[in-house]
Amino acid sequence: MPATITFSKTFETKADAIVIPVIDQKMPKGLSLPASVTKKVKDTVADCKAGECQTFTADDKGVFLVGVAKGTSSLDIEKIGGKLFASLLGLKKIEKVSVVDVLSADDAAALANGLYLRSYDFTKYKTKDKKPGKMVVKVTVAEKAAADRAFKSMKALSDAVFVARDFVNEPPNVLYPESYTAEIKKLLKDAPVKLTVFDEKKLDKMGAGALLAVGKGSERQPRLVIMEYDGRKKKAKSEKPLALVGKGVTFDTGGYCLKPRDGIVTMKMDMGGSAAVVATMKALAETQADVHVVAAVALAENMIAGNAYRVDDVLTSLSGQTIEVINTDAEGRLCLADALTYIQDNYDPRAVIDVATLTGACMAALGLNMAGVFTPEKKLEQFFWESGKETGDDFWPLPVNDDFNKLMDSDIADMKNLSSSPFGGASTAAAFLQRFITKGRAWAHLDIAGVAWRKDTTDLCPKGGAGFGVRALYHWVTHYK
Ligand code: BES
Ligand code: ZN
Ligand code: ZN
Repeated sequence: MPATITFSKTFETKADAIVIPVIDQKMPKGLSLPASVTKKVKDTVADCKAGECQTFTADDKGVFLVGVAKGTSSLDIEKIGGKLFASLLGLKKIEKVSVVDVLSADDAAALANGLYLRSYDFTKYKTKDKKPGKMVVKVTVAEKAAADRAFKSMKALSDAVFVARDFVNEPPNVLYPESYTAEIKKLLKDAPVKLTVFDEKKLDKMGAGALLAVGKGSERQPRLVIMEYDGRKKKAKSEKPLALVGKGVTFDTGGYCLKPRDGIVTMKMDMGGSAAVVATMKALAETQADVHVVAAVALAENMIAGNAYRVDDVLTSLSGQTIEVINTDAEGRLCLADALTYIQDNYDPRAVIDVATLTGACMAALGLNMAGVFTPEKKLEQFFWESGKETGDDFWPLPVNDDFNKLMDSDIADMKNLSSSPFGGASTAAAFLQRFITKGRAWAHLDIAGVAWRKDTTDLCPKGGAGFGVRALYHWVTHYK
C-alpha cells in the first residue's frame, strides 16, 4: 500500500520517525525538538550533502536528515523523497513519520510526492509476508493550503502512474485483451471518457487484418479500445483533437519466431505503451484538463497455435496496405498500424503520438533509462527531449527517414514487417509505422522497450512495471500548442 501523505501547520510529535530536511548542509532554523535530538542533528548536518540521507536514533525515534541544496529542481527533490522512503523502510517498523517545517510549500509537496511514488508496491498475489503496515507521513509546512494544492495535482498524476504500473505488473493469465478491456471499463466507469470497444468480430468486419493476425493464435482474441475525453471549457468545433495510440500486447511469445528462454521472461510488460495511454486518459479526466484527446489501444496476445499467423503470410491492414510477414515477433508494429489508421480515419487528429515497447534495438541503443523519440517534426522531437527535465520521463531522438523506409519494401506486398538490414532496427520499425501516418499529419513514435520495466529499484520506482510515459504524455497533451 502506498504511503498516506498529509500536510499540517503544527508538528506531530507522536511519530516513529522524524524527518529533517537540511538545506546546504546548514542547521535548520527554529527546530523545536528535544535537546538530545537537536544535539545529534548539529553533529550530523555537515555530513548531510544534497541528495543524501543521514540516519540515527535519538529520543527513541529514528531521525532522518535529508540533504537538499538551494535551487534543487523539483524533480531532484522528488528523488530525494524516494530515497527517504527507502531509508525509512530500512529501519524496522515505521508507521508514523513526521517531517519538520523547513521547505517551501512546493518543495515539501515534491518531497512528499517522491516518497509517495517510491512507496508503490504490488503485493496482491502474496499470501504470506505481506509488506508491513501502511506508512502515514505528516509533513509540517507553514503554507499548508499551498502545499495541499501542489500535492493534489502531483498525486493525481502519481496515482495514474500507479494505474499503469498495476496493469504492467498484472500476470498475463489474468490480464489478456478481454479482461484488460473490462479493467479499462472499470477504471473509467465514472470518468467523462467515452469508450468504444471493437471485439474480434467487429475488427474482422472493419478489416483490421494486421491486429487480428497477431492475436489469431491465442485463445484470447484481440480488442481495439477507443477512448475520447473532451474537457475543453470552450469547445471550438474547428479545433481537432490530439491522439494517443498504445501497443497492448498482453504477452509476446514471439509467435512462430519464438523468443529464446530468457527473452520471453517479463514479456507480460509488452502492453506498457497501452498502460501509459489508458492511465493518461484517467489522469486527464481526474484533473479535468482543458483538452480534447482521443486514444486507441490495440490489445492482442502473440501466441503459437495451429491457426496462428506465420512467416510468409500476407496481411491486409485496415489502411488497405498489404504487409508481408517476415518475422512474427515484429508484431507490435502490426497492432499499431491498425490502431493508427483507425484513430486518423475517425478523428482526424492534429497530432498523433504512439507509445510502444517496440524494439530490443532501441533498448540496445539507449539503455534502460531513456526512451527513443522518432519523428520527422523538429517541434515534437524538441518537445519530448526537453520535457524529460520536468517529467522525469527521459527521451532521446533517433532517426526515421527514407533510407530506413526503403528497407521495409517487400517483393510481393506493399511492405514487409522486418527490415532487409540487420542494422538500425529501432528506426526501421519507426519507418514502418510512418507508412500508416497520412500525409501532413504531425506524428511521433515513442519506443519505451528499455524503460517500461525495471529490473532494479530506482529512486522513484520499485522493481517491476515503471509506469513510464504517463507523466510525459500528460505533459504533452496539456502543453502542446
Ligand atoms: N516486444 C518486443 C520488443 C521488446 C524487447 C520489448 C525487449 C521489451 C524488451 C517486440 O515485439 C520484438 O520482439 N521486437 C523484435 C523485433 C525484431 C523481430 C525486428 C526485437 O526487438 O527483437
Ligand atoms: Zn515481438
Ligand atoms: Zn512485442
